[in-house]
Amino acid sequence: MPTSILAGNWKMNTTVPDAVVLAVQLKDELDKVLGMEKVICPPFVSLMALSSMFDGTTIQLGAQNMHAEEKGAYTGEVSVQMLVGICKYVILGHSERRQLFGETNESVNLKMKAAISHAITPIICVGETYDDRKSGNAKDVVLNQLRDSISGIGVTEKIAIAYEPLWAIGTGVAATSKDAEDMMSDIRDMLTETYGVGFSNQVSLLYGGSVNSNNIGEYITQKNINGALVGGASLDASSFIDIARAVSRA
Ligand code: PGA
Repeated sequence: MPTSILAGNWKMNTTVPDAVVLAVQLKDELDKVLGMEKVICPPFVSLMALSSMFDGTTIQLGAQNMHAEEKGAYTGEVSVQMLVGICKYVILGHSERRQLFGETNESVNLKMKAAISHAITPIICVGETYDDRKSGNAKDVVLNQLRDSISGIGVTEKIAIAYEPLWAIGTGVAATSKDAEDMMSDIRDMLTETYGVGFSNQVSLLYGGSVNSNNIGEYITQKNINGALVGGASLDASSFIDIARAVSRA
């Protein structure tokens, strides 16, 4: 069985004081909601503060990106090694990184291997554009992205995959639960064919794109959906706690 994962991607929001306030609002209630991994992904500069705040709770931290090298002359980057001991997860290949910062399947693949070798679980993001979906190419686009992003992964290694259609991110127009489940089932089949059922059955598949406390129930009850990657609604403590409770009930 895949682990259920609910991840909150704060993106480039919250100053350190803001992040601390939000973490205080989340901490006690979120800690009590069980039955899934709860992962908060704040900006890099807030990771340390939140790490001590969430110490001893059931809440985990994730980074929103990383560099695959351990150290070196890469001005402005944060290395995989710097996340060790702070983050249990890292989001890789988010569509904003792919679209705005030149992230490619190849760079995601390098980062994935580096994260795994440092015992950090990568949450690999894939998703199609609105045009891809309109032209009937959504499945091919997503599966090709995924194949290349996770190429060479070992069958005993642990990853999560977030399917986030680009047109659903931050738009309030979420995918229908049927469309999301159809894509997840295609992803699961591809993983089974390529890496075997043992691997496929332990990969957590997360839906992302305008998830909120009203629609989470539809997704989380689908056969192949094991959690969610939440952007906007993760910046509101009570919304995020409500989403976690709905995941827990399911
Ligand atoms: P959203 O973002 O929930 O605001 O649509 C999701 C994401 O980008 O991961």
